[in-house]
Formats: sequence, structure tokens, C-alpha cells
Amino acid sequence: MNQSKKWAWVSAAVCASVLGALSVPLSALSDNDDKALISKANALFKPLPSTDALENTELTPLRVALGKALFYETRVSSDGRLGCVTCHNAAYHGADALALSVGIQGKVLPRNAPTVFNTSLLVAQHYGGNRASVEEQAYKALLSPVAYGNTSNEQVETKLTKLGYMPLFKAAYPADAKPVSVENWSRAIGAFERTLLTPAPFDRFLKGDAQALSKSAKLGLEKFISTGCAGCHNGVTVGGQTYQKFGITQDYWQVTGSTPKDAFKGYDKGRFHDTKNEADAFIFKVPQLRNVAVTAPYFHDGSVETLPQAVKVMAQLQLGKQLSEEEVTQIVSFLESLTGDIPSDFAKVPRLPAAPN
Ligand code: HEC
Ligand code: HEC
Repeated sequence: MNQSKKWAWVSAAVCASVLGALSVPLSALSDNDDKALISKANALFKPLPSTDALENTELTPLRVALGKALFYETRVSSDGRLGCVTCHNAAYHGADALALSVGIQGKVLPRNAPTVFNTSLLVAQHYGGNRASVEEQAYKALLSPVAYGNTSNEQVETKLTKLGYMPLFKAAYPADAKPVSVENWSRAIGAFERTLLTPAPFDRFLKGDAQALSKSAKLGLEKFISTGCAGCHNGVTVGGQTYQKFGITQDYWQVTGSTPKDAFKGYDKGRFHDTKNEADAFIFKVPQLRNVAVTAPYFHDGSVETLPQAVKVMAQLQLGKQLSEEEVTQIVSFLESLTGDIPSDFAKVPRLPAAPN
């Protein structure tokens, strides 16, 4: 036995005998710590609801199946190549792993695609919150010149009918006089999206399973709370519930290396571009942090490549703090516990109607 090992052994033995003398078993001490942390966490976060418990009359199996088909359908876009699935893909945990998404005819979008998982639980959709619901988000994508590039709802409805979707829409919306409509297109996609919840080890922890998080993740959770991250990233989606300024201590681009964008005639000012109100300049929706460890790159323009770097940037820009490498590693371990399984129905490619001609 070398000297240091011997000392470690001796001190462990001393510790055990002292604890033994006090008759407090080691496990009981950490059980209490775990219980305290679980209850602290439950005051700030909430486990995801189970999909079965969602009370939403839209969620019939036929509507969800239609929504899934439409999510994968590329022939509705003006160049026939782009579907939701292009930028929200199972291979990249519901995102596209690009700094900036690429739309029709190679047009580069000014923002990074967030994951599509759990988004029905966010306060609103998009970084500026300019879409109230997942249904409105899907509805407006059809006529967006960079996304689907269609010119009218009628054009979309004609395409869907020609592609052979009438029976699927009729089965999903039997009471409608006009089943193939852009409204039903977005309702069905919304229904599908509402099923895309990704329970993670952190949910098991919140429900009382102390073993669901590693030691490092638990220390990271403590740090996440004590440093102030949970002041903005809280609730069921660990973020996504409020709007906050990005760059409280200094201009964000000085730290992220972001560049001005033509679409915004300069640096992205977040909600300002939707409301035109100066008070909204640089206010962004706080993103959810569920699945953040597997949805690099980071921030609204994908300007930061790695999660440890994103954590450091946040501490500096939002809280004026410098974290040690160890603290960053622990917070990253905690964030990894927010990675859920890809919903099984999302990854399996659906069979789409073959065009009749
Ligand atoms: C060309 C790539 C692209 C396509 C195609 C696309 N998206 Fe997105 N999606 C994005 C980008 C980029 C954003 C962020 C936009 C913003 O915040 O301004 C986004 C945002 C979203 C959001 C909001 C997420 C959040 O956290 O706020 C949802 C939901 C969503 N998309 C669903 C869909 C659905 C459904 C479709 C198909 C109807 C679709 N997307 C098609 C790139 C795409
Ligand atoms: C004052 C509010 C606030 C605080 C405090 C805060 N954040 Fe954020 N966070 C935001 C906002 C707003 C964004 C979105 C910035 C953008 O991309 O425009 C964000 C983005 C992020 C992202 C990138 C998410 C993605 O998908 O791109 C991570 C990771 C993150 N925060 C982690 C943290 C951590 C860790 C802490 C504590 C050290 C923290 N945040 C503290 C508001 C906050």
C-alpha cells in the first residue's frame, strides 16, 4: 500500500468509527441531504405531465397520426423539399444541429432551431414569443417566405388534396364540412406536438428517486439554484415561462461573438422585432433547458458551440459571475439529467399518402 492510499484508508476508518460512535449511519446523512434537495427543487421545478393525462380534446389518435404525417410531409413546401422534420429531426433530438437553419432554396434563417419537444408547455413559441401556441406556429409556417414559401391557404389545401390526404383529414375531423383546411393542418400538427414530451432522470428525482441523479448532477443542481440560474430557468420546462433581457451585464455579442443579421438590420433584438417597442429591445423568451445537452449549438443564433461554454456565458452575461471549471462541470452534469428519451412515435418514419398521379 503506498503512503497516500494508506492515509485515505486510515482516515476513512477513523471517520467510520467516529460516525459509529455517534450512531449516525452515513447513508442517513446523505438521505437527509437528498430529501432537502428534492424538496427545494420541487419548489422551483415540476415534473412533466404524462401524455395520457393531458386533457385536450384535440388529442385523438387519428389527429395525432395525421399531424405526424404532415410533420414529415415535404411536398407541401414551395420547393417540395422542406418539412417540419427537416429542421426538427429525431437524429438531433428534435432540432437540426445547425447554428442557423436553412429554409427553402437554401435561404438561411436568422435564428437557431430549438427542439420541438415539450414546446406546447412553453409560455409562447419562438425566441420573440410571436406565436401564441404550437398550432399558430404551424399555421404561420406555411406562408412564411423562408419556411414553406406558399402564397395562399388555398394553394396549400389544393396540394394536400392532390397528394391524397382527403381520407386522413376526413377521418380525423369527421364533423367538418371542409376537412382539408389549413386550420386542420395546424390543429393536427399541434396535436402531434402536444404528445412530444420527454420525461428525463430529473423528473424521477423530483418525484422522490434520489438515485436518479449522480452526485455531480446533484451538486450541479445546488449550484444552478444558488448561482441564480433558476431565477429565470424554472417551472416544468426549466425555462420557457418568461421573457428576459439577454446581456444584462454587457452587450451579448461581445461575449457570444454573434454577428449582425440582415433580417434584423443589425444585431438580433429579440422581442423588439415583433412589438417594435424599445422597451422590448434584447428581450428574449428564456429557452427551456430540457434536452439542452443534446441540442447544440446554443443561443438564438447558435453562436456558442458547447454547453460548458454556454453555461459560462450565461453566468457572466446574466449574473455577472465567473464560475470555476468544477462548478461548470457540475452544472453541465445537472443539465444532462434533463435529457429525455426521444418519444418512440417521433423517431419512427410514417408512411405518407402517395400522390394519385
Ligand atoms: C427551415 C427550418 C425550419 C422548418 C422547416 C420548421 N422550423 Fe420550426 N423552427 C425553426 C427555427 C429557426 C425556429 C426558431 C424561430 C424563432 O425563434 O424565431 C423554430 C421554432 C419552432 C418552434 C418554437 C420552439 C420554441 O422553443 O419556441 C416550434 C414549436 C416549431 N419550430 C415547430 C415547427 C413545425 C411544427 C414545423 C412544420 C410546420 C416547423 N417548425 C418547421 C426552424 C424550422
Ligand atoms: C436573467 C435571466 C437568466 C438567468 C439568470 C440565466 N439565464 Fe440562461 N438564458 C436566458 C435567456 C433570455 C436565454 C436566451 C438567450 C438567447 O439565445 O437569446 C438563455 C439561454 C440559456 C442557455 C442556452 C439554451 C439554448 O438552447 O440555446 C443555457 C444553456 C442557459 N441559458 C443556462 C443558464 C445557466 C446555467 C444559468 C446560470 C449560470 C442561466 N442560464 C442564467 C435567461 C437567463
